[in-house]
Amino acid sequence: MTNRIVVGICGASGAIYGIRLLKVLLEQPWEVHLIISEAGKLVMAHELGFKDNSSFEQFLESEGVRFHEDARLIRHAPDDLLAESASGSFKHKGMVIAPCSMKTLAAVASGYATNLMERTADVCLKEKRPLVMVPRETPLNKIHIDNMIKAYEAGAIIMPPSPAFYFRPESINDLVDFVVARMLDQLNIEHNLVGEWGSG
Ligand SMILES: Cc1cc2nc3c(=O)[nH]c(=O)nc-3n(C[C@H](O)[C@H](O)[C@H](O)COP(=O)(O)O)c2cc1C
Repeated sequence: MTNRIVVGICGASGAIYGIRLLKVLLEQPWEVHLIISEAGKLVMAHELGFKDNSSFEQFLESEGVRFHEDARLIRHAPDDLLAESASGSFKHKGMVIAPCSMKTLAAVASGYATNLMERTADVCLKEKRPLVMVPRETPLNKIHIDNMIKAYEAGAIIMPPSPAFYFRPESINDLVDFVVARMLDQLNIEHNLVGEWGSG
């Protein structure tokens, strides 16, 4: 089984979901291929203070990421259609887009892939690899809902970021980690973020 995974971060609110996901993956020996859209960079700057010209690794460390010695982070420019994940021949365990904008959801739902994020997601669907989408918007209009159904019917796992409160969260990170745990569960990736209900 390959230890590669693709993570996409769109320009929807909730960049922290992508960052907390990266934290779990990079603290294990994963090879993470990361695509942050142009809008994703804008939102990340706004919400988390990341500056695109600074070191992303340093930024992750400032967000509490402690890199495993065998972890690898490979960043891809969002317009790089020559990157490996644009081809079905590139084997990986799946892709998580967290957060996913309504625009990228629409592109994936309609098979209209104009950048690496959309193309990689499209490839996941055609190759029957897991594609976990964490669409963030509220309220939803009919187009958003229809696009979620289309993506679901094409094989995507649609996971709106909906934290539960029965585990008594005490911080934003607790709420975010609940959602990230559910994403990881979908890919059968181990974590110790939130225990199973009933496990104490
Ligand atoms: C601060 C900020 C917050 C945004 N939040 C959302 C959001 O929650 N959901 C969404 O679908 N779009 C949101 N947008 C709009 C997207 O960034 C925009 O549609 C963009 O074209 C998405 O591009 P991408 O899918 O390539 O990242 C937001 C934009 C900004 C600047």
